[in-house]
Amino acid sequence: MSPLRVTRTLPEDATDAALRADVQHGLTATPKTLPPKWFYDARGSELFEEITGLPEYYPTRAEREILADRAAEIAAATHARTLVELGSGSSEKTRYLIDALTGLDTYIPVDVSESALTQAGEALVADRPELAVHAVIADFTGRMTLPQAPQPRLVAFLGGTLGNLLPAERAAFLAAVRSLLAPGDALLLGTDLVKDEKVLVRAYDDEAGVTAEFNKNVLAVVNRELGADFEPGAFEHVAVWDTENEWIEMRLRSLAAQTVKVPALGLAVDFAAGEELRTEVSAKFRKEGVAAELTAAGLELTHWWTDAQDRFALSLSMAR
Ligand code: SAH
Ligand code: AVI
Repeated sequence: MSPLRVTRTLPEDATDAALRADVQHGLTATPKTLPPKWFYDARGSELFEEITGLPEYYPTRAEREILADRAAEIAAATHARTLVELGSGSSEKTRYLIDALTGLDTYIPVDVSESALTQAGEALVADRPELAVHAVIADFTGRMTLPQAPQPRLVAFLGGTLGNLLPAERAAFLAAVRSLLAPGDALLLGTDLVKDEKVLVRAYDDEAGVTAEFNKNVLAVVNRELGADFEPGAFEHVAVWDTENEWIEMRLRSLAAQTVKVPALGLAVDFAAGEELRTEVSAKFRKEGVAAELTAAGLELTHWWTDAQDRFALSLSMAR
């Protein structure tokens, strides 16, 4: 059994600088925003895993159903020897791919969450001793340098995480992924689909309040890393469907007028009563939109699979 290899392409001081820049920019903007990648410290990654098991949160179950049904077809279409997974988290659903890809040599999970990567990587190394696992701590919206590994490669981006990027970020991200692909490589993309508003809002505002806790975790991250004094109880979780943009927006609404200090940035941020801080968008897609975004990035959609209830789609595309 080869040990788990972990590479950090993001030095810790670069992560710190990126957080400072995002908080400085986001908390002084109108309206206030914070990028969703800062949810995922060890606690945030744990809370996301809890979300995936909630009765209201269908995307993980729907995508798992597609992977279970289609992994053999994906393997036959790609013959991948290397599987690169962006935003891999627990790598739980990935096991369907790993099992189906009979010629697989190397698995490269890429994530900002070191705790999720090492936990998932160590479990895989123990269960699949013949597989080389090389975990990479990196921001997939930045420049990604991947370890050398045999071709053909399959790049997987599951969970619907593409929807957490804004449209311009999505275009830049897909173009960057396209530039990583050599002839014969492929992209496997999970996208949540547009559906009934009530079903969508419930998925992001569950009865047990786990999504609310996940949302507020970003405040705990800013408190810990930048010495801020956010009081999570002074904010409420909000999830709304934006019909025009076809995305769910998660926000934190200030319950009263308050000032939050961020000493590491020398900032004092005023919130009016009822003012909202946007913490995430989660875009929902239609087949034509996904195909068009892939085409714009120089990719061509070759396969489109959905679950039995048409809630979620997995698509395979190749470089044009
Ligand atoms: N793919 C898994 C996890 C989805 S949760 C699934 O389908 O269940 C989103 C994952 O992406 C988290 O593990 C989070 O840490 C990671 N992530 C979010 N933004 C990221 C970024 N900019 N760069 C790298 N990883 C990121
Ligand atoms: C990771 N990502 C696809 C999740 C989503 O559904 O947009 C994150 C999440 N936010 C709230 N619940 C889950």
